[in-house]
Amino acid sequence: MPTLGVNIDHVATIRQARRTVEPDPIGAAVLAELAGADGITVHLREDRRHIQDRDVKLLRQTVRTHLNLEMAATDEMVQIALELRPDYVTLVPERREEITTEGGLDVNSQLDRMKQVVGSLQDQGIPVSLFIDANEAQIQAAASTQALFIELHTGSYAEVKDEQSQSAELAILAAGCEQALASGLRVNAGHGLTYWNVYPVACLNGMEELNIGHSIISRAVLVGMERAIREMKQAIRGEL
Ligand code: PXP
Repeated sequence: MPTLGVNIDHVATIRQARRTVEPDPIGAAVLAELAGADGITVHLREDRRHIQDRDVKLLRQTVRTHLNLEMAATDEMVQIALELRPDYVTLVPERREEITTEGGLDVNSQLDRMKQVVGSLQDQGIPVSLFIDANEAQIQAAASTQALFIELHTGSYAEVKDEQSQSAELAILAAGCEQALASGLRVNAGHGLTYWNVYPVACLNGMEELNIGHSIISRAVLVGMERAIREMKQAIRGEL
């Protein structure tokens, strides 16, 4: 079964709502790890709307599992990643007006830039994952950048309401997974995954890590971080 990367951005979102010091995402990461999280994921956005530079520096010193830094492929972020040295970087598209990351990266239309960014990070020993839709051309382009991983965008799968559409979206993800593995890529997935829809994605052949934020932090607000993480691990194993 895939491992669980817990995205703690929303903890920082609550803190930033008051520009205060609580809740602290560092404490959230410690609790998540104690409860069984296999990795901690944060997105340092260009506008610093939730996670701050101070957070990533402290997380680098305190995270005991692995730290996945989501970021845009900008020069500023590459510089930060090279200094921070997260365990891996996930490159994501970023638009200021979006509420959350909306679509996958268009690797295909900016191939030279992507190759350059992937190379500059991986040459310094920082593995790179590209957050893309399960689309044939994008997967092929991702493989040509030599990135070690892709993260399949599960947003479309998560959004559909009826079973038939969900099966169709799952089949697209499964085909994407197979294509990626055949091209030598390793595969993670995330976005919109919940306690109710995660299991079929967890069962996809070769799936390594699921990055999940909103659903876990929403549950943690009501039942506590430890139980929220434990229950997501159960959901991934199909035991919930
Ligand atoms: N993976 C990536 C690349 C993301 O940008 C996000 C959202 O920050 C997630 C996973 C987690 O998505 P969600 O909060 O919907 O679980």
